[in-house]
Amino acid sequence: MNQKLFSAGLALLLGAGHGVTAFAQAKPEVLVKQRQAALTLQGKYFFGQLRPMAQGKTPYDANVVARNAVFLDALTQMPWDGFAPSTRDVKSGALPAVYTDTAKFKENQDRLRNEITRLVAVSKSGDEDAVKAQILAVNKVCLGCHETFREKQ
Ligand code: HEC
Repeated sequence: MNQKLFSAGLALLLGAGHGVTAFAQAKPEVLVKQRQAALTLQGKYFFGQLRPMAQGKTPYDANVVARNAVFLDALTQMPWDGFAPSTRDVKSGALPAVYTDTAKFKENQDRLRNEITRLVAVSKSGDEDAVKAQILAVNKVCLGCHETFREKQ
């Protein structure tokens, strides 16, 4: 086999495993748009639907809770790689602390992940009070991170 061709093929193969790196090099403006899109959908399913139920403002619907918990389980993992250092100077709602206090920013992401995992579990239990309490626990993490890392609305 032609040695050059073989090397090129190997490079392609190896490169395929580095998709995450390739995405991280997307244009900063694009990364910001994408992270905001994932956050907007979290807003739709959480602030717009789950939280009002937990607060007794809208009727409780266990099916919607179970569905949205699964949606959020995926959505809440999506925004974070969009806060790449290259996006620092793009106009957005992110405060500079996102890029300076990265350990605390990451800690808030992990906290959200834990609480959402718990929400998924408890949403299968049929225990309405426990579900509502867990929705409010998630809410605390959303607001806590916004307090430190998002511009005041
Ligand atoms: C780890 C920190 C963190 C957590 C946790 C977090 N957010 Fe945010 N959120 C941010 C930051 C930072 C922004 C501003 C992003 C930007 O403008 O690029 C933001 C922006 C948003 C926006 C506005 C998006 C837009 O288009 O401008 C919504 C809606 C939102 N978050 C909802 C939520 C919900 C719902 C939760 C909880 C389920 C949550 N966030 C949890 C950090 C967080």
